[in-house]
Amino acid sequence: MSAAKAPLRVAVTGAAGQIGYSILPRIAAGEAFGKDQPVILQLLELPIDKVQEALKGVAMELDDCAFPLLQGMVLSGDPNVAFKDADWVLLIGSKPRGPGMERADLLKDNGRIFVEQGKAIDAVASDDARVVVVGNPCNTNCMIAAAQATRLAPERFTAMTRLDQNRAQTQLAQKAGVPVSEVDDIIIFGNHSPTMFADFTNATIGGKPAREVVGDDAWLENEFLPTVGKRGAAIIAARGLSSAASAANAAIDHVRSLHTPGDDIHSIAVRSDGSYGFDEGVWASVPVRTTAPGTYEVVREGWDHDEFAAGKIAATNAELVEERETVKEMLG
Ligand code: NAD
Ligand code: LMR
Repeated sequence: MSAAKAPLRVAVTGAAGQIGYSILPRIAAGEAFGKDQPVILQLLELPIDKVQEALKGVAMELDDCAFPLLQGMVLSGDPNVAFKDADWVLLIGSKPRGPGMERADLLKDNGRIFVEQGKAIDAVASDDARVVVVGNPCNTNCMIAAAQATRLAPERFTAMTRLDQNRAQTQLAQKAGVPVSEVDDIIIFGNHSPTMFADFTNATIGGKPAREVVGDDAWLENEFLPTVGKRGAAIIAARGLSSAASAANAAIDHVRSLHTPGDDIHSIAVRSDGSYGFDEGVWASVPVRTTAPGTYEVVREGWDHDEFAAGKIAATNAELVEERETVKEMLG
C-alpha cells in the first residue's frame, strides 16, 4: 500500500459567502485535488464578529459532513494567518455586482482587497503556491494581486473564465440538440465581461466544426455571443443574487484542470505573453494545457482567427488595457 499523501493547504477567501458555501464541501470531498488527496482548509472572512460567527457555522457544517480527506481547518479574519504556508489560494471574497452594474464598476472597491491579499500571499504562502482569482472583475484583480508579489512568479496567478466556457458549451449543445459532452474546443478569449469572445469559430460539435453543425452564423454572432457574455447579468436579474453554484462548480473545474496534467485544453485567464494579440502583462483568457500540477502552457496551435474573431479579440483586449489603466496606482 502506498503511503498517504501529505495534506495540501487550501486557503479560501469569502468562505462564508455564497460561492464559499457551495465550494468548500466539494473541495473537502476531493473534487478539486483528487479523492486520495487530504486537505487542510484555511478560511478567511472579514474580521467582523457577525461574519466570523457565520464562518464558524460553515466550519461546523463541514465537520458534520465527516469528510475523510478534511484533516483540519483554520478560521481567521487575518490574511497573514489564513494564507500561511498555503499551497493553493482561492481568492473569492469580494463584493458581487448588483442589478444594472458591470463587473468593472467593482474595480476600485474590490481592487484594494487584492492589493492587501496579494501582499499577504507573497509574505506567507508556500513557495510553491498557486493563486486563483474568482472575485470580480477577476482578470484585473488577478493582475493587481500578482503585482504585489516579489517572491511568486506572476504565472502562478490565474483568473477564472471557466464558468464562461461551461456556459458556452451548454448553449452550443442546446442549439445543436446534442449532449454537452459532444461539444469540444470551446475556448473563451479575453476578459470575464461582456466583451469576452467565446470562440465558436474553432469549436467542434460531434467532431465537426460547430459553425457547420449550427449552420447559422447570424445566431452564433448575434445571439450566442451576447447570451454567454451577459449570462452573469441574466442570473442576477433572475435570482437577485449573482451565480454561486455554477461559479463554485467552475472554480472546481478550473482548479482540477490546473492541478491535473494532461492533453485537455481549457480556458484560463493568465498573464499575457503577447499570444493571440493580447497586450503583454494583462490577464487574458486563452487556451491552456496543464503540464505539471499547477503549471500550464498556452496552446498556440489550432486556434486560428478570421477577421471577425480577430476583431472580437482586439475589443476585449482594449477593455483589459483600459482596466489596467484604471487601476495603475494599485500595481506598484
Ligand atoms: P458573497 O457576497 O455571497 O460573498 C462574498 C464574501 O466575501 C462575503 O462573505 C464577504 O464577507 C467576504 N469578503 C468581502 N471582503 C473580504 C475580504 N477582504 N477578505 C475576505 N472575505 C471578504 O459573494 P459571492 O456570490 O460569493 O461572490 C464573490 C465574488 O465572486 C464576487 O466578486 C462575484 O462577483 C464573483 N464571481 C465571479 C465569477 C467568475 O466567473 N469569475 C462568478 C461568480 C461570482
Ligand atoms: C458571473 O458571471 O455570473 C459572475 O461574474 C457574476 C456577475 O457579476 O456576473
